[in-house]
Amino acid sequence: MQKGKCITIDGIDGAGKSTQIDFICAYLKTRNINVVLTREPGGTEIGEKIRKLLLGSATKMHDETELMLMFAARNEHIQNKIIPTLANGDWVLSDRFTDASYAYQGGGRGISVERIAELESWVLQDFAPDMTLLLDVDVEIGMQRVVSRGQKGRIEQEDSRFFNRVRDAYIARSQKFPERIKLIDASQDVENISNQIQKVLATL
Ligand code: TMP
Repeated sequence: MQKGKCITIDGIDGAGKSTQIDFICAYLKTRNINVVLTREPGGTEIGEKIRKLLLGSATKMHDETELMLMFAARNEHIQNKIIPTLANGDWVLSDRFTDASYAYQGGGRGISVERIAELESWVLQDFAPDMTLLLDVDVEIGMQRVVSRGQKGRIEQEDSRFFNRVRDAYIARSQKFPERIKLIDASQDVENISNQIQKVLATL
């Protein structure tokens, strides 16, 4: 069924995804590729409501509730947006995807990989992105960028130890899936990062 390609972009908070998302959309346009930009948690009407629950309030939430809500939003996203878009022949660019659950709820919160994999096989079945761009940057740099953006979301308020665990889990994912996950050195200047991304996108 899938005709278009699905690219996801991930990394710790403050890794610089937004700037590079603009670059990727512009680059794909020059190749006459129709790309639908979307995000997680979110991307659908229900998903955006779940996003508000997850990120909007400071109310304490059980770690596994957080994980299940991420996957509930993801189910809606895959079934009602990603699969229909790809079937239509368009490409999907998702600002975050399942790797974020392994990094944040797995690495950050300490939920076991096996537990997350259960939800992944239930919700994703045999779906996987064609390529994932992992923007890797030092935790201190990422946290400074988040501070300069203003008000922090519920998860962004975690400390540097949390974000170091998240970063390590992302890197472990990229080592486990080197074909799909392309590690991008996001400590470089914006143009250099875009160049790295363009090189790997060209292989698609
Ligand atoms: P962002 O859209 O601004 O990147 O924020 C999304 C936040 O949600 C970010 O702190 C990472 C977090 N998140 C998870 O913890 N698990 C997930 O599965 C996803 C998709 C996001």
